[in-house]
Amino acid sequence: MGSPLRFDGRVVLVTGAGAGLGRAYALAFAERGALVVVNDLGGDFKGVGKGSLAADKVVEEIRRRGGKAVASYDSVEEGEKVVKTALDAFGRIDVVVNNAGILRDRSFARISDEDWDIIHRVHLRGSFQVTRAAWDHMKKQKYGRIIMTSSASGIYGNFGQANYSAAKLGLLGLANSLAIEGRKSNIHCNTIAPNAGSRMTQTVMPEDLVEALKPEYVAPLVLWLCHESCEENGGLFEVGAGWIGKLRWERTLGAIVRQKNHPMTPEAVKANWKKICDFENASKPQSIQDFPLPSSLPAFFLSHFFLFSFGRSYFLSVTNNGEKQWHR
Ligand SMILES: NC(=O)c1ccc[n+]([C@@H]2O[C@H](COP(=O)([O-])OP(=O)(O)OC[C@H]3O[C@@H](n4cnc5c(N)ncnc54)[C@H](O)[C@@H]3O)[C@@H](O)[C@H]2O)c1
Repeated sequence: MGSPLRFDGRVVLVTGAGAGLGRAYALAFAERGALVVVNDLGGDFKGVGKGSLAADKVVEEIRRRGGKAVASYDSVEEGEKVVKTALDAFGRIDVVVNNAGILRDRSFARISDEDWDIIHRVHLRGSFQVTRAAWDHMKKQKYGRIIMTSSASGIYGNFGQANYSAAKLGLLGLANSLAIEGRKSNIHCNTIAPNAGSRMTQTVMPEDLVEALKPEYVAPLVLWLCHESCEENGGLFEVGAGWIGKLRWERTLGAIVRQKNHPMTPEAVKANWKKICDFENASKPQSIQDFPLPSSLPAFFLSHFFLFSFGRSYFLSVTNNGEKQWHR
């Protein structure tokens, strides 16, 4: 099992830590020596209202057990303020667990602008605001661990949650790019899609399921991903009831539907549809550079294909045996 994973001296900010999953993370981090910022706006699960009670109760709980914690009552929409609480209290910020969330479930046709916007503001923009406020501090200290909280609803879709699904998968896109931008500063960013009984799910889950899906069965994954010895970066994990699995992309071999000196037609797409969608011998692309270029492209493109990416060029060369290699 190895030695216990400790967080002594590490400053950990957990958003939405006044209840459910966030509370379980905050307690677990504090138990292992972290200095914890318990952030919670204290409203209801639809994002209405606010108050200090939720965060205060968890801070109390941590202190009673001998841990160190401070409360932050600001909305994640005000990321600078949330991170300032960590800096004022503990002088640094090492870990950000973006967890705060609300629901505004409606079938697609009934989603109002407000239901769409507030979900995006809290989940996606809130995670952006908090993470951006911590980012420069992490870069300067060349250390940081960040968690984004996605959802199976985003990964697979779910009836009545189009607003939530869109924001939740947006968080994966955000995490994917942060994992790349943070790598050289030892900032790792991973995404989880949890399953847990909480006030968010108790209305849709039977009681025994809520009991089996304890937030405490999600927290150990978050702690591991946020530990300094964890090299994982850019991963996506589903987790719940003591089970953890990793997800990745898969791409079919595909088909070339264009003939030399002929226009490309929808009929050719139709004719090749089975092959385009055939996952036999599928590849597992891991980066934007893993783009399959058909060998039928003119030699010039194959040897000089370049992709501009934020001021950087990636050059593709093709070796004699036809293997493609990307260079910066
Ligand atoms: N419980 C699940 O099965 C499940 C599944 C998939 C994803 N998630 C995600 O996990 C996270 C935690 O969910 P939970 O089930 O523990 O819910 P929860 O309602 O028990 O906890 C969410 C907490 O976030 C706080 N919060 C809401 N808006 C905030 C804001 N603007 N600023 C700061 N705090 C705010 C709430 O006050 C609440 O205490 C959410 O992002 C949720 O979308 C949960």
